[in-house]
Amino acid sequence: MTLIDGKAISEQIKQEIAAEVAEIVARGGKRPHLAAILVGHDGGSETYVASKVKACEVCGFKSTLIRFENDVTEAELLAKVQELNEDDDVDGFIVQLPLPDHISAQKVIEAIDYRKDVDGFHPINVGRMGIGLPCYVSATPNGILELLRRYKIETQGKKCVVLGRSNIVGKPMAILMMQKKYPGDATVTVCHSHSQNLEQECREADIIIVAMGKPNFLKADMVKEGAVVIDVGTTRVPDATRKSGFKLTGDVKFDEVAPKCSYITPVPGGVGPMTIVSLMKNTLLAGTKAIYKD
Ligand code: GUN
Repeated sequence: MTLIDGKAISEQIKQEIAAEVAEIVARGGKRPHLAAILVGHDGGSETYVASKVKACEVCGFKSTLIRFENDVTEAELLAKVQELNEDDDVDGFIVQLPLPDHISAQKVIEAIDYRKDVDGFHPINVGRMGIGLPCYVSATPNGILELLRRYKIETQGKKCVVLGRSNIVGKPMAILMMQKKYPGDATVTVCHSHSQNLEQECREADIIIVAMGKPNFLKADMVKEGAVVIDVGTTRVPDATRKSGFKLTGDVKFDEVAPKCSYITPVPGGVGPMTIVSLMKNTLLAGTKAIYKD
């Protein structure tokens, strides 16, 4: 069994990005600039955005954090999005999700200029990804592809089961795993809360990507010997023994599943750090106008 070290790979990639940024700046080019909008004080969102800002520093990017309280109106938020769309210094920006119930996340996402949509959530980027055109690919699925690539995990012709169908992870992941290239070329099955044959599908899978948000969902008896298991879960489960008061828990019952796997990602230190680094890669693409020229 090989433990996939997302933390180490992510550190390596950040150094690669930093070297590229140093070169760009030395040539007189512009330092990439990422802006992030954070609404409210959700614990997870606070942590993710802080990690993104920190990663920008390591990569040599400029970053701007824009905060709003929970009672911000949709109009105020849309006005800020418009301002960032028009700010030539900002290469890319994100609006951290989830948003409060009184704000339509979809409306906000669609207000973002797709050329600055480094999260890859805008319908233009999602659509282009679906038909294999250059675009910003959403960070978590892209980070998982990078792990498969760096560990040289075979995917062609393999049976890949994706658990979960969210717009951010499950759906794009399934599309990417069936794309006609490496990593991809897999036979993909998507299972979700209403699937009747989920356990059987998992038992037949060569690669299982779990993004359900259900702690310890995937058990040993659902996994074939030698399978590759990628755990996207990051639920905060209360744990009185920790200073933070919680334990970050994946969707895989790691202790019993790991011994059966050829490769498995831990939580934390697997997919999480790769998600952040994928956003950094998209920001570099935005800074260099590598995908959309103007
Ligand atoms: N919430 C959970 N994951 C993400 C992400 O990748 N981007 C944004 N903006 N919000 C998120």
